Amino acid sequence: MSNHDSGHEATTDVALRDTTGPDRFEDPGHPEHHPRLGDNDPKANKKAERQVVFLFTISILGTLAFIVAYFAFPPGTSPETMRRSNITLGLSMAFALLGIGTAAVHWAKALMNDHEKSEERHAQRSTDETREAAVEVLKEGAADSAIGRRGVLKVSMIGALALFPLSIVLPLIGNIGEDWDVSKFKRTMWRKGLKLTTDPDGRPIKASDVTIGSVFHVIPEGLHEKPHPLDEKAKSVVLLVRLAPEDLKEAPDREGWSYNGIVAYSKICTHVGCPVALYEQQTHHLLCPCHQSTFDVADGAKVVFGPAKRPLPQLPITVDDEGYLVAQSDFHEPIGPSFWERLK
Ligand code: FES
Repeated sequence: MSNHDSGHEATTDVALRDTTGPDRFEDPGHPEHHPRLGDNDPKANKKAERQVVFLFTISILGTLAFIVAYFAFPPGTSPETMRRSNITLGLSMAFALLGIGTAAVHWAKALMNDHEKSEERHAQRSTDETREAAVEVLKEGAADSAIGRRGVLKVSMIGALALFPLSIVLPLIGNIGEDWDVSKFKRTMWRKGLKLTTDPDGRPIKASDVTIGSVFHVIPEGLHEKPHPLDEKAKSVVLLVRLAPEDLKEAPDREGWSYNGIVAYSKICTHVGCPVALYEQQTHHLLCPCHQSTFDVADGAKVVFGPAKRPLPQLPITVDDEGYLVAQSDFHEPIGPSFWERLK
């Protein structure tokens, strides 16, 4: 084995010729090198350059389309407007990123140096000579990219890279203000006397209709009349379960929050906010499908397994004069992920 302590020397004669050791194998060498079309043909080289410019231009157009879509198709409040906004923003950002990525790859493959090099393995920290050599190689690469000579290509690349951050910054700027007001996450639309209704059709629920072991997905009465019903729904969804009253363990400060074995808990997981919806009647466990946090509905929805750090917030409920289930108040703590947890 030849001894190259600098480890960076370019050579096609890789040294592993000793086949006597258990891990040694004969170096198969490089396959025959075939020059690319553009290596010998200036026209083909120029064509490849135009292709790279074209790809950067696609990225520029993608970013411009993103900006236009951001203002032209606001998400609004209906599923249709949200879908339209997501599709246009997603597609335009995909073109912006794809343009930069494919242009960089094509530039490297079609225009940059095509020499094959081999390096021997060496200690992890390179020697000073190797590091200096690496700097030289980088400089060579910069020179090899011919960025100084290819003016249009340089401009198109700078344009693509300079414009693309707008697609990230713009939504952030647009959201500063009302949307960053976290206080609205502390409250939901539940209030005293508001009926519990079925999701999604908004049908009021009578306590007598809730049999032991049954589960109802619940939204507040009048949700669909709200100006931002989906925002409200994301905070207010509740899971209603009826247990045998003797199975229910109620903390002293929560006495009277349930009705005849019926309990209501926020459906928003306290880990990172997925909807918990998998209820196992025998164990009274409620499972979040995202990371398997498990809550004990019979015991204040305390966490019995998984990464969630606090119980699901409970909605105090009772019935009105007609026997319909109604809320006694809003939740007594913020719903959702634990990072909202704070003093009331
Ligand atoms: S979001 Fe529910 S366990 Fe992670």
